[in-house]
Amino acid sequence: MSITKQEFTRRRKQLMAMMEDNSIAILPAAPERTRSRDTEYSFRQDSDFYYLSGFAEPESVLVLIPGREHGEYVLFCREKDREKEIWNGYRAGPEGVCAQYGADDAFPIDDIDDILPGLIEGRERVYYGMGKDADFDHQVMVWINAIRAQVRTGAIPPGEFLDLDHLLHDMRLYKSAAEGRILKRAGEISAEAHARAMRACKPGVFEYQLEAEIHHEFATNGARFPAYNTIVGGGDNGCILHYVDNSDALKDGDLVLIDAGCELDYYAADITRTFPVNGKFSKEQRVLYELTLKAQQAAIDAIKPGRHWNEPHEASVQVITEGLVELGLLLGDVPDLIESEAYKEFYMHRIGHWLGMDVHDVGDYRVGGEWRVLEAGMCMTVEPGIYVAPDNAGVDAKWRGIGIRIEDDVLITKDGCDVLTADVPKTVDDIEALMAAS
Ligand code: GLY
Ligand code: MN
Ligand code: MN
Repeated sequence: MSITKQEFTRRRKQLMAMMEDNSIAILPAAPERTRSRDTEYSFRQDSDFYYLSGFAEPESVLVLIPGREHGEYVLFCREKDREKEIWNGYRAGPEGVCAQYGADDAFPIDDIDDILPGLIEGRERVYYGMGKDADFDHQVMVWINAIRAQVRTGAIPPGEFLDLDHLLHDMRLYKSAAEGRILKRAGEISAEAHARAMRACKPGVFEYQLEAEIHHEFATNGARFPAYNTIVGGGDNGCILHYVDNSDALKDGDLVLIDAGCELDYYAADITRTFPVNGKFSKEQRVLYELTLKAQQAAIDAIKPGRHWNEPHEASVQVITEGLVELGLLLGDVPDLIESEAYKEFYMHRIGHWLGMDVHDVGDYRVGGEWRVLEAGMCMTVEPGIYVAPDNAGVDAKWRGIGIRIEDDVLITKDGCDVLTADVPKTVDDIEALMAAS
């Protein structure tokens, strides 16, 4: 299921082919982060770094030097160390990264300050992800200054600094067939997890217990970690867009909104389902749910190559605004309400985002001042929502505290899109049937 060595090589070659003449690219691994005192968060490699290397160890730096005679792909990594490996696990070491990860040349990370300036010297341009990490920005300047200090001996420091993200993130936006397969599997596992939460749900269950059901299903399918913090919000909590406390008991008569997706082999899924805690939608819940679902379908119908990024969003705004007017939640003329963005009282976020190695994946949404044109291989979420604030005095009390979002992941194909997360029930009837059967 994972990405092959050949694909990692192809990515490096593609990036190097786009780099300007006589240049070098430098990418650091993700930093390790302390959770408390001497306990760390689980290490997760930086997506850009992993995309180009498949190498998951911390304290590494990847360097690409197109045209370098002694090898274009250089990795700095931790040295092998028997004692440290007994305590903390295997390290590939410089020899290992050449043998297993295709590096042409590799050096101990502790020697980087002595070696990297020599690799940069004579190159006119340096690519790196500028301004993301102050420590790394500073580090690059230390290496450059080491070259500048040698100019009187004939050393040539680079004169241009270019943003690596610009090239690399555009590559990451277009998913290969192998990436598509992993995204699909991440979607299937996440769909199964949502179905499991629906089955386990009943009044009195705590939000964190549904979170546990979800994470259990992820982990037992090889996806040990969620791609982002899981949201389980019952009742009013469903109206808090980034609710992650997940601490309350679920109440009879309320809806529960779950936004959860696994990360599988470095690729994310991102699904939201909203369903009744007791297994039966009330009249108001059903009406707003079906309106959200209709908006989602209109958005999905608008996703095909040649359409602009904004079109699915606009389709969802049209459906939701019309529906809210029909129900009396918005008063006025639909085009005026869209123009004045009155719908944002109930639908305050956009239709979705790019999806890939990061849940809010990289890639520009506008190109040359225009919304980006959708193309085959792009992957995005489709997630309209309707949220009636519990304290919204402007609407009938029966609507208050209903928060609904329905989110699926789609991969754009030659003539439309594939829904990667279709396995989890979505219609009112299908949800009620699943919950009744459990
Ligand atoms: N789960 C984050 C999002 O839906 O964008
Ligand atoms: Mn989500
Ligand atoms: Mn999302």
